[in-house]
Amino acid sequence: TRVLVLNGPNLGRLGSREPEVYGAATLDDLAALCRDTGRRLDLSVDVRQTDDEAELIRWVHEAADERLPIVLNPAAFTHYSYGLRDALAQRTAPLVEVHISNPAAREEFRHTSVVAGVATGTIAGFGMMSYVLALQAVAELLAESPR
Ligand code: DQA
Repeated sequence: TRVLVLNGPNLGRLGSREPEVYGAATLDDLAALCRDTGRRLDLSVDVRQTDDEAELIRWVHEAADERLPIVLNPAAFTHYSYGLRDALAQRTAPLVEVHISNPAAREEFRHTSVVAGVATGTIAGFGMMSYVLALQAVAELLAESPR
């Protein structure tokens, strides 16, 4: 099964961006980790990143049309993008919201996720491992109710 791993704004700068919060691994490292995890779980993982809200919403429409599961780190869009939320509400396949950091332990504005209410579930605070756990969750969900 194909799975989209979608990453929002500023995540292309992983490795140099606030390493004390997000760690030293780059987006390329993250993509390799996700693909390796996918191979182990028999998932074909397509990792993408954009700083552009419109592009991210188009990818979500693609996933909705093709009924593809999504692992999504919406980054800052998490906290305010109703457009992204409404796009995500159209899909039927599993959606796992992921965060590298634990937003609940950070600034007040990060405590709200407008995405969480339309997600199957959320995994946050485990660094890059959040993505591994999210892909495991997708694999489990697909095993429970294959499409
Ligand atoms: C993040 C947390 C968000 O609050 C932040 O805007 C990000 C990254 C995370 O993965 O920890 O860009 O989604």
